[in-house]
Amino acid sequence: MQADGSDIRTIEGMAAADGTLHALQEGFREMHGLQCGFCTPGMIIRAYRLLQEINSPTEDEIRQGIAGNLCRCTGYQNIVKAIQYAAAKMSGVPFQEAAE
Ligand code: FES
Repeated sequence: MQADGSDIRTIEGMAAADGTLHALQEGFREMHGLQCGFCTPGMIIRAYRLLQEINSPTEDEIRQGIAGNLCRCTGYQNIVKAIQYAAAKMSGVPFQEAAE
């Protein structure tokens, strides 16, 4: 009832009709950000919304943005990189990993 009349995006609706992955899906694959089938869709959908709000988020903004999606199986580093990858791709700039 709470979602009645709302548009709902799920992970299944992220790729293009021809099967081309969304930049976030590609980023999670390229940056090894994929975790399990429970948290990964939530991370990607949350990141999608985050990138609508902030098109070039800082690492802190990404970490704050996904803070409500908990996974105790990861250190989140590759998930952050995946979102940075997608942000860069969606902005049309090459992704460059920050030096560690
Ligand atoms: Fe999905 Fe940790 S890998 S909850």
